[in-house]
Amino acid sequence: MSYQIIIQPSGHCVTAEADEVILDAALRHGLSIPYGCRNGICGACKGKIVTGQVVYPDGRPGALSPVEEAIGQTVCCQARACSDLVLEIHEVSSSQEVPIRKMPARVVKLERLGNDVMRLYLKLPDSERMQFLAGQYIDILLADGRRRSFSIANAPHDDQFVELHIRLVEGGTFSSYVFNSMKEKEILRIEGPFGGFYLREESPRPIICVAGGTGFAPIKGMVEHFIQSELARTIYFYWGVRTQSDLYLNALPSAWGERDNFHYIPVLSDAKPEDQWRGRNGWVHQVVLDDFADLSGYDLYTSGPPSMVDAMRQGARSHGLPGEQFYFDSFEFASQ
Ligand code: FES
Repeated sequence: MSYQIIIQPSGHCVTAEADEVILDAALRHGLSIPYGCRNGICGACKGKIVTGQVVYPDGRPGALSPVEEAIGQTVCCQARACSDLVLEIHEVSSSQEVPIRKMPARVVKLERLGNDVMRLYLKLPDSERMQFLAGQYIDILLADGRRRSFSIANAPHDDQFVELHIRLVEGGTFSSYVFNSMKEKEILRIEGPFGGFYLREESPRPIICVAGGTGFAPIKGMVEHFIQSELARTIYFYWGVRTQSDLYLNALPSAWGERDNFHYIPVLSDAKPEDQWRGRNGWVHQVVLDDFADLSGYDLYTSGPPSMVDAMRQGARSHGLPGEQFYFDSFEFASQ
């Protein structure tokens, strides 16, 4: 049995199974309604039932007083629909609306993705969840007070773990630690989410994503969110790396490329003869500029080293891209 939930004022519509909490149904459809604890305690996910009925199999949540319940308020992380619903709740659409929090996180899995990239899965305590927008980043807080920033590579609907892609940096103490000494079950301190690099869903324009190296991470989160939300816009994804082995999750964008509205263009700057590479060569920003003489009708998201982001910004401007349609995440790899 499933029920239809219409969210107001956005008009978005989601389907919820009878045993599914409303928040999960909304996230599964790629909607960002506010939440915090996901335990019925903090009240961040409160909304108002305009029509229809909900139940709380575990009893009325602590964040909902009897008076609030009587006037139709509900706590979306605990409520299950038992009829079709019209629900009034604000949807998060900008990074300023997402609370920044510090919390512990346990390393649950370390997965080597090629020579110099490690995929790290972090788990938050059972009572904690971190709301974020696809493409944002977190800081890992080191014992000596320093921080290391990493983009979140998963999409908000898939928030059981926080996925990071960490590149091994020559002389980099933290990345060396991750590659050589970090163990599963280790506890880290993190803070986040941060950053204005996230998917602007309200725009009708086709999207060009340009990643350099592990700049793939936030783009992965965005594309997975895009697919989950069933957005109809066209995406061109350019991934610039040195050699073929640097395309560390190549099967993933290749699979996305089977969708009619997704085009994947890997670009090698230093292909080796043994790669027998038949794809595009050169600097990734230049390949984008070669393909698009006029960028004025696109949104361009770019993520990677500062030199790549700067070259993309300058080139895009000369190809007619308005500044407000250029979004970037520029990161320097810390070696100290
Ligand atoms: S997220 Fe805290 S009460 Fe629902």
